[in-house]
Amino acid sequence: MKRPRYTGKNYKKALNIEDLERIAKRRLPNFVFEYVYGGSDDEHTLRHNRSVFDQYLFEPKTMTNVGPRKLDTPLFGRTHPMPLAIGPTGFNGMLTRDGDLKLARAARDAGIPFVLSSVSTTRLEEIAAVEGLTAWMQIYFYRDREFVKSMIRRCADAGFDAIVVTTDSAIYGNREWDVRNFRQPMKPTLANLLHLLTKPGWMSDVLWPDGLPTFKNLDDLLPPDKRNAQGASQIIGPQLDPTLNWDDIAWLRELWPGKLMLKGILSPNEAEMAVDHGVDGIVLSNHGGRQLNHSLSPMDTLAEVKARVGERCQLFVDSGFRRGTDIIKARALGADAVWLGRATLYGLAAGGQPGVAHALSLLKKEMESTLGLLGHTHLDALDATCLRQRRF
Ligand SMILES: Cc1cc2nc3c(=O)[nH]c(=O)nc-3n(C[C@H](O)[C@H](O)[C@H](O)COP(=O)(O)O)c2cc1C
Repeated sequence: MKRPRYTGKNYKKALNIEDLERIAKRRLPNFVFEYVYGGSDDEHTLRHNRSVFDQYLFEPKTMTNVGPRKLDTPLFGRTHPMPLAIGPTGFNGMLTRDGDLKLARAARDAGIPFVLSSVSTTRLEEIAAVEGLTAWMQIYFYRDREFVKSMIRRCADAGFDAIVVTTDSAIYGNREWDVRNFRQPMKPTLANLLHLLTKPGWMSDVLWPDGLPTFKNLDDLLPPDKRNAQGASQIIGPQLDPTLNWDDIAWLRELWPGKLMLKGILSPNEAEMAVDHGVDGIVLSNHGGRQLNHSLSPMDTLAEVKARVGERCQLFVDSGFRRGTDIIKARALGADAVWLGRATLYGLAAGGQPGVAHALSLLKKEMESTLGLLGHTHLDALDATCLRQRRF
């Protein structure tokens, strides 16, 4: 039976993240939507990131008085109103003008941390200046270590609370849609250019008057004639340093006195090594299915990692989270909080800053009702006994 869903473009009518995804698809040019949506190779991991949640079923308690429910979550000594952060995503200015700032302000209003990507289209100093924001900075390790060092220094000067090193991207993932849609780097195919004509709103918001946004934090890495989106896209990939290893983390630990997190770890052994290197937080992640295809999902290793290092560091997860039930399952298996990638990007594309706020409030409502329906009033009551693992 075909059951029609909302087919308009008004983010306020979205009942869930999937609705926002469909609105984003309608609003964005194809090549931008595919940049956000797509995964690597034949996208097995992208699909697994969603289906993994079906393996866990709730065992609810009833008759427990689930009056007022609270989601407050302490992270690094600061209490946030829910167990979420907006994770780092590059090139957000392609979705809407000032995409990074809109995400950061929505995160600030919701009281959750925002993680700026080093390939952002906004200077890190501008994000750090957002009043009241818990701002964390993600960095990639480039071959030019002096540049990495200067970025760390800028983060310290600007007042970032934490640095996040992405560990799963020493080599760029094989994202075929980002090739298929272009005749040359950042030059869309004729079919994509024609489709662009059906998106005048996006063109005037994003392209007018200066063309594609640029990578504002990387000016010192890029030669002056390569600072436009096309030039930069040819340099950033090859600049990723494939020799990234634990010595680099030790080096950074010496350099950066603030909170340090590693994002992209999936193995319990690596989680233990991270903590032994003085890391304060781990983000279990497969990069939203954009890097190693056929990789585990964080949900596959979360309980084991929690048992190994849960008492010694803050534990985060991302990849595939679209529902309050997903987040509650991760909390039950030991995550302190979930980082959002596409969920808030779809909100951003669908409705700018208010669209992001809408995405966050949908997830908050879903978490509150899931918690109550499970028979609890606070996240601390959740543990693995709330779940049964289904065997297929
Ligand atoms: C469009 C896009 C850009 C991304 N850019 C970055 C990035 O610059 N740095 C990074 O560490 N992760 C990046 N990621 C990965 C996200 O931080 C996160 O791991 C992933 O999106 C989580 O999966 P989800 O989108 O299914 O929630 C990006 C993800 C997307 C969708």
